[in-house]
Amino acid sequence: MIIVYDSLTGQSKRFASHLGFQSISIKDYKESNDMVFLLTRSINFGDIPKTTVEFLDKYSNKVIGVAVSGNRNWGENYGKAGEKIEANYHLPLVLKYEGSGFLEDRQYVKDWIYNYLTQKEM
Ligand SMILES: Cc1cc2nc3c(=O)[nH]c(=O)nc-3n(C[C@H](O)[C@H](O)[C@H](O)COP(=O)(O)O)c2cc1C
Repeated sequence: MIIVYDSLTGQSKRFASHLGFQSISIKDYKESNDMVFLLTRSINFGDIPKTTVEFLDKYSNKVIGVAVSGNRNWGENYGKAGEKIEANYHLPLVLKYEGSGFLEDRQYVKDWIYNYLTQKEM
């Protein structure tokens, strides 16, 4: 299990560093058998960053879930990349969070991953 983050200003990188799993920038990702949890962001009125699209086009089959950073100032486009990813790639949008997330946001994602991994073992 590895966390892959697509982070321009470092918010999702910071979020990743608190999850307790190995994490890596999307730019440095090398294909492996590991399952991936993806952290990305919304850009320009709710778009998915190109780097994320390119990653998902190749590796969405490895991704178990996605969490998306954004800013509520963007109104209806807040974290909207997450909904687009969910629709386009049929992946669960686990959480939208602002900036690098609050403690409870990080805990929520951690719990979601642990539950996923536990259920897989059963
Ligand atoms: C040019 C620009 C466009 C953005 N567009 C959106 C948007 O449409 N929706 C949103 O929720 N956040 C938007 N944001 C906010 C970023 O998604 C947010 O700052 C995020 O935490 C950045 O993550 P990163 O530091 O990991 O790159 C935008 C930020 C910038 C600079």
